Amino acid sequence: MAFKYQHDLVTVTDMSETEVLHKIKLAQLFKAGKRITLNRPVYAMNLFFENSTRTHTSFDMAERRLGMQVLQFDANASSVTKGETLEDTVKTIQAIGVDLAVIRHSENEYYNDLLKQNLDISIVNAGDGSGQHPSQSLLDMMTIYEEFGTFKDIKVSIIGDLNHSRVARSNMELLTRLGAKVAFAGPNQWYDDKFAKYGAHLTVDEVAQDSDVVMLLRVQKERLGDELNDFDEGKYHQKYGLTKERYATMKENSIIMHPAPVNRGVEIDSNLVESDKSRIFKQMENGMYMRMAILTDVMVAKGIINKTDLLGVD
Ligand code: CP
Repeated sequence: MAFKYQHDLVTVTDMSETEVLHKIKLAQLFKAGKRITLNRPVYAMNLFFENSTRTHTSFDMAERRLGMQVLQFDANASSVTKGETLEDTVKTIQAIGVDLAVIRHSENEYYNDLLKQNLDISIVNAGDGSGQHPSQSLLDMMTIYEEFGTFKDIKVSIIGDLNHSRVARSNMELLTRLGAKVAFAGPNQWYDDKFAKYGAHLTVDEVAQDSDVVMLLRVQKERLGDELNDFDEGKYHQKYGLTKERYATMKENSIIMHPAPVNRGVEIDSNLVESDKSRIFKQMENGMYMRMAILTDVMVAKGIINKTDLLGVD
């Protein structure tokens, strides 16, 4: 079944299985060396209002590899510090000629007001508060697909700081749609009804033994508020982390994922980050290719890349 190329990519909520598989195939072609031709010069700007290493750098790299011109943006040196709204910032860069804005922002669904205006500039969400992280989710799907060749009945456990995690939200939605079986683990207070409809809350010991994919989440200390006063890293690691002992109980062909940055020694034993089962750095590598695929599809929607240039990708 075909899908409609989207002018903006802000969530995975309406993304079909066909579209996900298309993006994985396209990202794999880029990984194999595929090149693409732009019909005209394209200008991209990455507006990060929250810190980032992976997402920012890999969008930047993906844009350059696709032949775009990347304009620098530093929120602290911009007129945002004088009270300029996000809407005015985006309208300003559109007026100057920017085609595509990749935005990370602390406000959930910051993109709704922008989309309502049907702007010419495309919006690609690089993470909104505890809302969605579509590019991370798609690179995670690519990594799982490369490992297992299917999503059907693959058991994925999402462990840790669920409540603050945009990765958990995007991934539980997409994994369920693709036919994987989701379960959760971690502190009870970070699991609620939002998650219950996607999977049960089990112990970390149970999911470590039973999962094909053990997906750990970073404890987001910057979002814990008063909870941080009682947070003990060592106790957390023993109760909810992937310890060496739990690693030893994992299934033979199972893998470890983590969106990173990693709190080494908290959600995962530091030595396990580079263990045989870990795909954490592969996720980062795949992320750059997946972001090339995401940007390409947006440019197809804008008429900057011909759909026929994607030959070999449904
Ligand atoms: N996984 C992720 O979003 O990492 P960054 O915050 O470094 O972009």
